[in-house]
Amino acid sequence: MNTAISTLHKEHDEARQGEVYGSLENSNNYTRKFYIESYGCQMNFSDSEIVASILNGAGLGATRQLEEADLVLLNTCSIREKAEQTIRKRLTEFSKQKKSNPGLLIGVLGCMAERLKAKLLEEEKLVDLVVGPDAYRSLPYLIEEASGGQKAVNVLLSREETYSDISPVRLDSNGVTAFLSIMRGCNNMCSFCVVPFTRGRERSRDPFSIEAEARDLFEKGYREVTLLGQNVDSYRWYHPETGIAVSFADLLEKIALVNPSLRVRFSTSHPKDITDDVLFTMAKYDNICKYIHLPVQSGNTRILQLMNRTYTREWYMSKVDRIREIIPDCGISSDIIAGFCSETEEEHQDTLSIMEYSRYDMSYMFFYSERPGTLASKRYEDDIPEAVKKRRLQEIVEVQNRLSKESYLQDIGKKFQVLIEGESKRSDLQWMGRNSQNKVVVFPKEGFSFKKGDYAMVEIHEATQATLIGNAVASVGVI
Ligand code: 5AD
Ligand code: SF4
Repeated sequence: MNTAISTLHKEHDEARQGEVYGSLENSNNYTRKFYIESYGCQMNFSDSEIVASILNGAGLGATRQLEEADLVLLNTCSIREKAEQTIRKRLTEFSKQKKSNPGLLIGVLGCMAERLKAKLLEEEKLVDLVVGPDAYRSLPYLIEEASGGQKAVNVLLSREETYSDISPVRLDSNGVTAFLSIMRGCNNMCSFCVVPFTRGRERSRDPFSIEAEARDLFEKGYREVTLLGQNVDSYRWYHPETGIAVSFADLLEKIALVNPSLRVRFSTSHPKDITDDVLFTMAKYDNICKYIHLPVQSGNTRILQLMNRTYTREWYMSKVDRIREIIPDCGISSDIIAGFCSETEEEHQDTLSIMEYSRYDMSYMFFYSERPGTLASKRYEDDIPEAVKKRRLQEIVEVQNRLSKESYLQDIGKKFQVLIEGESKRSDLQWMGRNSQNKVVVFPKEGFSFKKGDYAMVEIHEATQATLIGNAVASVGVI
């Protein structure tokens, strides 16, 4: 059974495991080639684009063909045990490749690097190169070391590294939407989460470099940026000379002002940190998408306390009320964990009822997977039997499926501005895009001469649990 279930964004998110990257634009200009696969969150995918830029600088071009690669990289995720298992399997497959190509170098990047460096390098001899998320600048040097037969490792975490001066190489991009990393690390210490240990302390990137990157993307034809961070609402940057602070609300406004035709999204928000200022800024600008990913994790106050989430059930509900008050048409989605340590049936019911209250359009749902080194692994017993965890997860999924369906059906008859991302996967006679609320919209090409990156006004006449289906009724120059 799947431990991670998303009821939405199939067009986009299903490919997110082990996606193969290769910007083929100028790959023939390079004699040496690298092949990279990314796992886990959007942050990791964004990091792979930074890695590609660093590798291009060192004379390596991307390829999608494993057979022609001199260097194979896996950008890894440690968030759940299953993710790590998947990656180990993949590494074993890669190491077989060495038989036909003895010069091939294999490297592990990202969150598993710190956790498993000794094991991967020494015990299992699966890899030549282990590089943590803050050490990508040292890749060219480490590749040289590894080529000389040394085991090359750098998993040092940094308090300053934001890669702000590195211009990411957009890999396998649709040319319309792009991720833009605004901060790194996390200071929250949710008791279930390994991220503070794998990605280190929180630091915010210089807002001027973020703005410059957004502007550059717009000039290259991109029409949507997603500002990325583990907890974007705690973004805070201090001007080194004036000491003046830039908050997340300030940053959002700055990026919204780049161009009214550039949509702005962001992810992820922590309910304790998202402020009224952010909500008012979202309401003020049409090009800031009306969509918030607001992970609840659990609907029960005792469990939330054990998770160290620092809010109660009631506090979370009042945050949802506030969002609906300030931005009535806002889409809300969530992350939910079933079967956290000591969770009772009644406490699980609280999760189901907070889902009903929040009316999520979509959720990412998981059952609890104990991670070594986390606060929960030290303090609490992982005492919910797997069968119970899975049954509770199934109940959560069923509630979410119904809520998604209700939310999508309610959109029938409405008109939305849709940013066209490309052709629908199912038919090249149809366009696929998203509305401001992040719902996938599909509509026939006929009647208008749209292209990728255009905005269309689409009237919805049909809905499934994950897709809105409609007809274009007008083209829209500026949203
Ligand atoms: N077990 C299950 N799910 C987890 N998540 C994070 N850590 C764990 C874990 N140990 C989920 C949370 C988080 C999302 C990215 O992954 O819901 O928001
Ligand atoms: Fe991303 Fe978290 Fe996985 Fe690291 S552990 S790749 S931060 S999801």
